[in-house]
Amino acid sequence: MTTHAPVPHPTTASTAGTAIPSSMKAIVQDRYGSPESVLKLEDVAVPVPHDGEVLIRVHAASIHVGDLVAIEGEPLIARAAVGLRKPKNRVPGTDVAGTVVAVDGGSTGLQVGDEVFGWCAGAFAEYVCARADHLVPKPSNLTFEQAAAVGVSASAALQLLRGRVRPGQKVLVNGASGGLGSYAIQIAAAFGAEVTGVSSACNLDTVRSLGAAHVIDYTMEDFTLGKQRYDFILDNVANHSLSHTRRALTPDGVLQSNNGTSGGRWFGTMGTVMKAAIVSRFTRRQSAPTIKFPRREDLLAIAALIEAGKVTPLIGRTYRLQEAAQAVSHIAGGHARGTSVLTLDARAGSRAG
Ligand SMILES: NC(=O)c1ccc[n+]([C@@H]2O[C@H](COP(=O)([O-])OP(=O)(O)OC[C@H]3O[C@@H](n4cnc5c(N)ncnc54)[C@H](OP(=O)(O)O)[C@@H]3O)[C@@H](O)[C@H]2O)c1
Repeated sequence: MTTHAPVPHPTTASTAGTAIPSSMKAIVQDRYGSPESVLKLEDVAVPVPHDGEVLIRVHAASIHVGDLVAIEGEPLIARAAVGLRKPKNRVPGTDVAGTVVAVDGGSTGLQVGDEVFGWCAGAFAEYVCARADHLVPKPSNLTFEQAAAVGVSASAALQLLRGRVRPGQKVLVNGASGGLGSYAIQIAAAFGAEVTGVSSACNLDTVRSLGAAHVIDYTMEDFTLGKQRYDFILDNVANHSLSHTRRALTPDGVLQSNNGTSGGRWFGTMGTVMKAAIVSRFTRRQSAPTIKFPRREDLLAIAALIEAGKVTPLIGRTYRLQEAAQAVSHIAGGHARGTSVLTLDARAGSRAG
C-alpha cells in the first residue's frame, strides 16, 4: 500500500505556533435540496488565501434565511446568484467569527492573531478564506458565538431602518423575535423610537427584553385591526396584504416590507417584496427594501452599537458543525428565536481566541 506524506498547507503563517493543517472538516453540498438530504460532513482541503484574502480559523458560524435559500436552491430566481444547476460554493455558510491564521500579502490591514467577524463564502468549515474588507475586529464584549450571529441579519436590519426611523416615532416590527427582527427591535430602540414587537406568546418576554416598549401576541391580536397607528412598520412576516397592513400607519407613516410568501416556487419570499417595490412607485407610504451585501461600514456601525451596549446578539440554539442540517432545518420552520449558531471549537463561547 502506498502512503503519502502529509502535504503541508502552502501558507506558512500560523497562530501561536500552531501549524495550519492541509485538510479540515467541512459541511459540503453537491446539489440543491432539503438540508437533511444534501448536507454532509467531509474532509476537504484547507483553502489558501489569494488576492488580499485572509485565512480564518472558524470558532463559530451562524445561519440566516439566505443560507437556507442557497442550500435549497429556492426560490428558483435565487439560482442566478448561487448557481444555476448546483451550488457555486460547495461549502455553505456566510456569517463567521474567528481568528486570522494567515494573510495573503501585507496590505490587508489584518494580522495573524486578529479576532474578527463578518462575511465569507464557506463558513460551515473549520477554516475559511475571506476578503479582508468583509471583516471587522470582534468587539471585546462579545463571544465568538455572538459575533458570528451579527453579519447579514444585523446589517440587513440596519439598512432597513437607518434614515427611516427617527427619535420619538412609533415603530412596529412584525416578526420581532427572529434573526432579523431581534436586531430590528434593538436598533429601532437605539435610534430613539418607541417600539412595538409582534411575536407569539412564548417570545413576548424576549422581545420586551430587547427594548420593545409594547408587545403584541399575534395569536391573540391582529395589529392591523387595532386602534394604534404607527409611523413606521417593518414587516418581516407579510401575513396580511400590503394595503391591509398600511391601514395601521399614521397618515405620513411608511410600511417597509421585507418578506412574504406570495411568489411561489420561482419568487418565494421575494413575491411580496417585488409587489412592494411596484406599489412604492405610487405611494410614499410603501417602501421596498434595498438591502445590499456586504458593506463593511454597516458592520462597523453595528460593532459600535454593540460596544455601546445598545445592541446584543440574541443567540437562539447552538449546534455542532456535524449538526448543520438540523440547524438549517430549524430556520426553515419559520419560528426560530434569535440566531442559530454552529460552534466549531472550545473558543466559540469565549470572548478571546
Ligand atoms: N435574516 C436575514 O439576514 C434576512 C436578510 C434579509 C431579509 N430577510 C427576510 O426577513 C424575514 C425574517 O427574517 P428572520 O431572520 O427574522 O427570520 P426567522 O429567524 O426565521 O424568524 C421568523 C420570525 O417570524 C415570527 N413569526 C412567524 N409567524 C409570525 C406571525 N404570523 N406574526 C408575527 N411573527 C411571526 C417568528 O416568531 P414566533 O416564533 O414567535 O412565531 C420568528 O421569530 C425572512 O423571512 C427574510 O425573507 C432576512
